[in-house]
Amino acid sequence: MRFHIMTLFPEIFHSYMNESIMKRAVEKETIEVFVYNIREFSNNKHKKVDDYPFGGGAGMLMTPQPIYDTYKHIIETHNIKNSRVIYLTPKGEVHNQEIATSMSKEEDIILLCGHYEGIDQRIIDLIVTDEISIGDYVLTGGELPALILIDSISRLIPGVLNQNESFEEESFKDNLLEYPHYTRPREFMNLEVPEVLLSGNHKKIEEWRKEESLKVTKERRPDLYKKACK
Ligand code: ADE
Repeated sequence: MRFHIMTLFPEIFHSYMNESIMKRAVEKETIEVFVYNIREFSNNKHKKVDDYPFGGGAGMLMTPQPIYDTYKHIIETHNIKNSRVIYLTPKGEVHNQEIATSMSKEEDIILLCGHYEGIDQRIIDLIVTDEISIGDYVLTGGELPALILIDSISRLIPGVLNQNESFEEESFKDNLLEYPHYTRPREFMNLEVPEVLLSGNHKKIEEWRKEESLKVTKERRPDLYKKACK
């Protein structure tokens, strides 16, 4: 899988992709990450990338030319015929595990990080295929949301996680939140590990975990619980 990121702040990505599981995935070439500085594609002699909104109003907008030329450069240099182009915006569809799973099957994903008050609508009309939000709050830019997308997608690509890091049993599988986990010691600060987990009875353990998953999902996420019971 190749991620192509259009941003005004490339350094943010270099540091994150150079740590932990992401670093390993890049080294193994399971994922490739290409970062493009939109400013470098500006035709303006001062490399300007923003301007005032027509019709007035607060703040600046990212102008279309540098973004469009960055996009053209990406698809031409990588010979991309058909790729999802994701614009990170609080106006988008709220990200979830299902979206991450569907995106993990793509060969190329192009991400567009906005700044200031947003981008010219014509860029959205011309090149964007998906508008995605990471939650109902507003951030200063699309870089953190893009990293969240990349992380959530990458860990679903075969070979990125090892066996111990498996995602077979985790939150959002079958719309359920995860059951509680315990490790050594058996007693900590007078709190004991639930007896059933020490029983060696795998069927009972599985039943207990399912019940705990249902309980926590019902309490915290009635919206998911409804889907899980369907
Ligand atoms: N840019 C600013 N806020 C955002 C959000 N919540 N999700 C995605 N992109 C954003």
